[in-house]
Amino acid sequence: MRILSGITSSGECHLGNYFGAIRQHVDLQDQGEGIYFIADYHSMTSVRDGALRRQLVREVALDYLACGLDPERAVLYRQSDLPEVCELSWILGSIAPMGLLERGHAYKDKVAQGLSADHGLFAYPVLMAADILIYNPDIVPVGSDQKQHIEMARDIAQRFNHVYGAEVFQLPEPRIMDSVAVVPGTDGRKMSKSYDNTIRMFWPAGKLKKAVMGIVTDSTPVEEPKDVKTPLFQLWALFANKSDREETFARAVAGGLGYGDVKKDLLARITEHFAAMRERRSELEKRPGDVEEILASGAQRARALAAPVLGACREAAGLGAGG
Ligand code: TRP
Repeated sequence: MRILSGITSSGECHLGNYFGAIRQHVDLQDQGEGIYFIADYHSMTSVRDGALRRQLVREVALDYLACGLDPERAVLYRQSDLPEVCELSWILGSIAPMGLLERGHAYKDKVAQGLSADHGLFAYPVLMAADILIYNPDIVPVGSDQKQHIEMARDIAQRFNHVYGAEVFQLPEPRIMDSVAVVPGTDGRKMSKSYDNTIRMFWPAGKLKKAVMGIVTDSTPVEEPKDVKTPLFQLWALFANKSDREETFARAVAGGLGYGDVKKDLLARITEHFAAMRERRSELEKRPGDVEEILASGAQRARALAAPVLGACREAAGLGAGG
């Protein structure tokens, strides 16, 4: 089974990314041929600082490697190390209907907000289709927010095959990773860099503590019953097993459990959960050359996997001298 997914690099990874994607990507590497890339071309629609882009790719690579992505088993590479994807993106863009792209959520939302969108945002789903179709993967594990993009990739694949009368692309299947619906941020909204409400697992201890202690709570006194459907308890629950959860939630509902104690316990659990990963990350951080080598060798392997599909596509479309 071939598994393909892209990882955005518009910010450093936080608990939302960890529970929403990283953990599943790492687990999936045992179930097939995993191909994961850090989507720096895609980051161009939001990150407009070259030095920052490069740094973010390294940070995200470190995060993934620290969290258990094994470059011996799975392929990990930087999207821009495989510029072939831009060629395929053009080829696919030339058969992708305007109407299809105009329905894209990201583009539509921006326009609805009265903001001016650029072509990159409009064409984002085409580049994403190219990322996927270039490997003919069996499954594409993504969060539910990406479902529409996978459906567009299917439509585009089908259209290319139909237009050129050749079965070049396989229709990709989304695998929606919704084992954790939404990870709440410190302010109670969905954890997201754009809300500045994230908790980054690899922050230095002091900063991590400050973020956890800053999770919103109401003013219910210690002895009163607590609502466990609130951000603090939901975050805490991510680090607890079923029996711990039942016990603590029962105590919360009964009254007598203070928010401060829950925060302290959450901080301890986060620290413990990521201790070994943090250690691995700081080891890797001292060897930037090794990380670069992992990405370079990943790109080389990815290129070899992409070549037959791209070759068949160019052949069907009549590009190049042909063979
Ligand atoms: N757009 C995806 C996201 O925001 C990242 C991504 C880029 C991706 N290319 C992809 C995901 C290809 C899956 C397949 O999460």
